[in-house]
Amino acid sequence: MAKTGRAARARRSQGSPSASRPTQVKTPSAGKAPASAIQRLWPTPIGLHRYPAAAKLHPVLVDVFAELRAAQQRQRGDKPGPFFASDDDLTERVQVEEFRDFVRFLVSSLGETVKKANGEAWAGRSLDLRVGFQGMWFQCSRDGAFHDIHTHGNCSWSAAYIVQIDEPEQRVAHPVYGAANGVTRLYGPHFTSMAGAFSDVGNAYLQPPHLDIEPLPGRLLLFPSWLAHKAMPYDGEKERIIISFNASIHASEGDQMHGYSAH
Ligand SMILES: [Fe+2]
Repeated sequence: MAKTGRAARARRSQGSPSASRPTQVKTPSAGKAPASAIQRLWPTPIGLHRYPAAAKLHPVLVDVFAELRAAQQRQRGDKPGPFFASDDDLTERVQVEEFRDFVRFLVSSLGETVKKANGEAWAGRSLDLRVGFQGMWFQCSRDGAFHDIHTHGNCSWSAAYIVQIDEPEQRVAHPVYGAANGVTRLYGPHFTSMAGAFSDVGNAYLQPPHLDIEPLPGRLLLFPSWLAHKAMPYDGEKERIIISFNASIHASEGDQMHGYSAH
């Protein structure tokens, strides 16, 4: 698996998947159908990985990011505050060896997760993958700063990697935010249709409509870019520092998985 450059990524946007993807869900034919059955449609895959060299990488990143932050704040004319998001060019801007190793880990983690997520869709095919980063940036928060609910575009997968945050015991001891202090909250795809909706034991399977991912230094969360998420308010001794990125993943054989169809 290799990482492609920006120009290559742009060119690869042609050859997109089928405009009308035929339904691939297999339902038993009438004669073989059991008396009753249930299917769960459209799962939401996420990947969790741990970077084994985090202890070596993080002190380097904290220093590099502090310098970048100061320079970009000067350039933007911003005053230092409780929230900061860098420019999204870390793959080009950070040139230390520890970071190159880290990017290799990101590429291999993405490959592993998308293979598992798409096993059925790829119908057992082994694809030669090309991972392209459509932007990578770092984000800092403290004093209750948060990043409100949103999705990402121009990519198929997105990520949050924890560089620095308070130790779990201290983090969850916050008198107001408690266990949600600084977590990444993922909202299920049905979330937007739940506001004010009827709730009883019959649709208890919809609960809870969100999932909090515990922020542990060295933990990489990969999630589909369409999935709504939020960086919850954070307050702690240490500043919360994360790396986020967007990625596209193409196959050298092309991306079309299904034939075009009028149906
Ligand atoms: Fe995000």
